[in-house]
Amino acid sequence: MKRTLTVMALATTATLGLAGGASAQGKMTMYCGVQEEWCQLMVNEFKAKTGIDVAMTRKSSGEIFAQIKAEASNPKGDIWWGGTGDPHLQAAEENLTMAYNSPMMKELHPWSVSQHKTSGGKTVGIYLGALGYGYNSETLKKKGIAAPKCWADLAKPEYKGEVQVANPHASGTAYTFVATLVQLWGEDKAFDFLKKMNENVNQYTKSGAAPAQATGRGETLIGISFLHDVVTPATKGLPVVSVAPCEGTGFEIGSMSIIDGARNVEQAKKFYDWALSADAQALGAKAASFQNPSNKAAPLPKEATKMEEISLIDYDMKKYGSSAERTRLLSKWDAEIKATK
Ligand code: F6P
Repeated sequence: MKRTLTVMALATTATLGLAGGASAQGKMTMYCGVQEEWCQLMVNEFKAKTGIDVAMTRKSSGEIFAQIKAEASNPKGDIWWGGTGDPHLQAAEENLTMAYNSPMMKELHPWSVSQHKTSGGKTVGIYLGALGYGYNSETLKKKGIAAPKCWADLAKPEYKGEVQVANPHASGTAYTFVATLVQLWGEDKAFDFLKKMNENVNQYTKSGAAPAQATGRGETLIGISFLHDVVTPATKGLPVVSVAPCEGTGFEIGSMSIIDGARNVEQAKKFYDWALSADAQALGAKAASFQNPSNKAAPLPKEATKMEEISLIDYDMKKYGSSAERTRLLSKWDAEIKATK
């Protein structure tokens, strides 16, 4: 009887992934595309749950895409968690990631499942975020200028040197911005605007959330970022006001993919399934990341953007996440915008 109980206890610990500590359960490498604090919390909670050690590197979406592509003949990463959906879709098309049908799919919102379908099962939506910008209300008051309300306002001469946005090569946020303008206005008008706005840009950052943070610190008057990134400094008491631009705006389906040729596929699948659960998705808000989660049962943080209250464009994920379109728009941005700075 005693022996049976011991055997049962051992079996239970093994099922929970707790036997023998981390080494017994293995390890994996994650490329993380969200804010460092959230990346770290996910790694720690996953390890506590499964015993699996995660080596994590945080980078911007375009940088992770470039790294996975550069490592394609000898993949070093296992899972790419977070970052905007467009480069995840491009990676799927270029066979840099592998198809996986998680048993968790039935718990997800249709927009997340649609990302999975578009990619032939190679990526899945983990959160939704709407693009916009923030302004520093104290700086605005000091300078005595009017508050911007629209995308078009950001090219006005009164905002000279006052606008910050990321570089769309490195940043998925900034690529979403370019693709949003093209979809709103057509390509010619969008690039004319970007050229004019270039006069007002004080810095093209690497990370998409950096302009929102700089706005909070008063280093720039206006920062273009996802609205959930604009809210984060505001929740820390900084004087940032969020703007959902009057013309309407684009959005991201933040995504997750397993890297093709991953050395630790079983661990990566465990992470994937867990990351789609309501419990795991509730961790974002604990790390001051306020995206809309993809699991229908995950709580919507009170700070999250209420998508039904803003005007969202019908962002064409398939087109703007395609290899040809993303590559073409980025080259055009280099030739027409970066070259002039
Ligand atoms: O974590 C914040 C966040 O805005 C995500 O919602 C988004 O997917 C990612 O950062 C984009 O970062 P970047 O623009 O640096 O690629």
